Amino acid sequence: MSLPFSQACENNKQPILSVLTSAFAKSSAVLEVGSGTGQHATYFAEQLPHLVWQPSDQGEYLPAVTARIQQQPVANLRPPLEFNVFDAAPQGSFDALFTANTCHIMPKLAVEALFKHLEQSLVNVSKLCIYGPFNNNGDYTSDSNAAFDQSLKQQDPSMGLRDQQWIVSLAKECGFRLVADHKMPANNQLLEFER
Ligand SMILES: C[S@@+](CC[C@H](N)C(=O)[O-])C[C@H]1O[C@@H](n2cnc3c(N)ncnc32)[C@H](O)[C@@H]1O
Repeated sequence: MSLPFSQACENNKQPILSVLTSAFAKSSAVLEVGSGTGQHATYFAEQLPHLVWQPSDQGEYLPAVTARIQQQPVANLRPPLEFNVFDAAPQGSFDALFTANTCHIMPKLAVEALFKHLEQSLVNVSKLCIYGPFNNNGDYTSDSNAAFDQSLKQQDPSMGLRDQQWIVSLAKECGFRLVADHKMPANNQLLEFER
């Protein structure tokens, strides 16, 4: 089976790993939301052997993630779980959550639903890492992010870059504080929270 492939994942996985290595140093079970192609899951699980990595995504993405894991099995990488953030959260005592490039794809209501899970069911999650492009107080941080936002909105008006301040306020409502705003290549950011 030829697997879906993201060049962006190949480009960003090492810079993201360098943040996760310290952010998740004391974590033992990470739930990844919106695993996409599964490239991040296989790489991060292999590079972070002290923890269990649990990929998840909407149902239509699972066959590709499953196939990738079968091609590149890693001992601490679990088979993906179906998780649409509008539905119940997966069972398991996750103490960390990672999601990449999802907040601008999900409608705002879905981003809010993800944080509701962190408030109500994923209550053991104490470290939260969110990667992607964000706006700053309503302003684009680069011309390329502005163009990306316009192209997303042309595809679907419910998509679009979110303000990092909005993400921080949602996180604060469920007890998280921003411990670092990591500037990443290609005008991305990794927002690292803990509670
Ligand atoms: C651009 S892809 C990012 C995939 C991968 N994390 C990466 O960085 O390449 C956006 C992801 O968000 C997921 N997503 C969108 N809406 C979702 C929802 N309601 N619940 C869970 N995941 C969702 C999609 O299924 C997809 O995997």
